Amino acid sequence: MNRIEVLRKYIDEMLINMVDSEERRCAYLHLYGVSHLCTLIALKRGENAELATMAGMLHDIYSYSKMDSKDHAHKGASMAREILNALKITNEAETELICSAIYTHSEKEVIHSSFNEILIDADVFQHCLYNPLFEIMPHEKDRYEKLKREFGLS
Ligand SMILES: [Fe+2]
Repeated sequence: MNRIEVLRKYIDEMLINMVDSEERRCAYLHLYGVSHLCTLIALKRGENAELATMAGMLHDIYSYSKMDSKDHAHKGASMAREILNALKITNEAETELICSAIYTHSEKEVIHSSFNEILIDADVFQHCLYNPLFEIMPHEKDRYEKLKREFGLS
């Protein structure tokens, strides 16, 4: 099993034990959706798609496992580090890259490093593409417009 599948197996076990079925559905859709979009954006921008895919899978794991979204980016970065250390699927530099992206992923109004930007954009893209009939949230509008231009959608 490659390391993306090792990580997904671990996360799937966490998600399948979520008591609330509606939250469980949201967790699967969002984590896999963001992970897929991280892959797409990383490939488009010539960034590390493997690590971006993993960052997407882990980015909201704190919110869903603790059912608490307060400060989830910072707490989630620590939790992701614990998971990656336990699974032993990344080296120190890779763990740092993934955890740094998770740490900054709620700061949508700031431009971060090119790798961290993948996760922020994938998070916005997933929210906006989930249902194109829903209204775009004001704080995601600018990034969504840029993403549509980047992917030739507008
Ligand atoms: Fe998210």
